[in-house]
Amino acid sequence: MRIQIEVNGAAVEADCWEGESLLFALREKLGFAGAKNACEQGECGSCSVLLDGTLVCACLVLVAQADGHSVVTVEGLADGDDLHRVQQAFVDAGAVQCGFCTPGLVVAAVDLLERDPDPDDETIREALAGNLCRCTGYRKIVDAVHLAAGVVS
Ligand code: FES
Ligand code: FES
Repeated sequence: MRIQIEVNGAAVEADCWEGESLLFALREKLGFAGAKNACEQGECGSCSVLLDGTLVCACLVLVAQADGHSVVTVEGLADGDDLHRVQQAFVDAGAVQCGFCTPGLVVAAVDLLERDPDPDDETIREALAGNLCRCTGYRKIVDAVHLAAGVVS
């Protein structure tokens, strides 16, 4: 089927099999490799994107379900060379090690801060509980979200 999706504000099209995941289509058909493919089972959050403004695991969404809808990936957060404040905060807080989890965590943190501009530790940890990181121990990730929240206030 021919699918049409708005990705990061631009209309894109591709021929896809209806059973393909949105994650596969983004990475392999549409050229958006920011969302990572780790488990393909909705367990790790590395593929997190916003679908019509709702945080989803792109590996669990069929591309057919996204046809005609709007997707924001980590690539859509920066403004040219200017990082989104959450991206910058992850860098400044030292919350990036191997970086594999980072795109999903950044998208999930952006989603959280849009809902709660000044979350406490528990709220951050709960909101990011679906995003697994094997490297950092999470403390610096929580710090990064606080840092990003501080830029706002
Ligand atoms: S790749 Fe989608 S949740 Fe792990
Ligand atoms: S920084 Fe390596 S998995 Fe999170």
